[in-house]
Amino acid sequence: MTKLSVNINKIALIRNSRGANYPDLVQIAKDCEKFGADGITIHPRPDERHARYADVPVLKAIVKTELNVEGNPIPKFLKMVMENQPHQCTLVPDAPDALTSDAGWDTIKHKGFLTDTIAKLRAAGIRTSIFINPDERMIEGAKAVGTDRIEFYTGPYAHNYSEGKRKAVADYARCGKLAHQLGLGINAGHDLNTTNLNYFIKNVGNVAEVSIGHALISDALYYGLHHTILMYLKECRNV
Ligand code: PXP
Repeated sequence: MTKLSVNINKIALIRNSRGANYPDLVQIAKDCEKFGADGITIHPRPDERHARYADVPVLKAIVKTELNVEGNPIPKFLKMVMENQPHQCTLVPDAPDALTSDAGWDTIKHKGFLTDTIAKLRAAGIRTSIFINPDERMIEGAKAVGTDRIEFYTGPYAHNYSEGKRKAVADYARCGKLAHQLGLGINAGHDLNTTNLNYFIKNVGNVAEVSIGHALISDALYYGLHHTILMYLKECRNV
């Protein structure tokens, strides 16, 4: 079964636009869980324009499912993760000024850094995942650095889906098979939505978790948060 982790960064963005605590991230996280989400994801970026570092302990205290904290493992981020012990930490090589994460790790070039960082996180009991493009060399590199899971960067899949879904998913299906054979858990995220999600899960196989923010929160404007989470869960479960 593929778990649905709701990325609530967009809620934090709305909150930050007015300076007060509304909408309340904690209430939204509790409601996502009540409506069936299997986890909550936040991605505090260095400029804290969406989720803030200070949101992490507050969410850790109330999340009953799984808290996934994503981010570029700069020292400040790693310190915060170690202090708060989320269930999972996803390492993302995003530039501080990136609009959104747009590429996976070069697991060969950054082998030493990733190996050290992952070992520290795992020793603290935190499951690790690293953001990856569907490339066999990067998957083999991911195995070599000792991560528990990879998270496929699905932006290109989503972008190419309308031009031909079979071709769009092909690299992910091939690399997913390799990752599974190597014993790596598989997560996925970026631009997944109710149109492309189920096809991805069905064709890649063994997808443990998807983290979805932008499309899910946008859909919630029309369908409401409860109904929208049920729509996404249906896409996750119906395989
Ligand atoms: N995974 C990572 C590493 C991300 O940076 C993001 C966006 O914050 C997501 C997943 C979710 O992407 P989306 O908001 O497009 O669903």
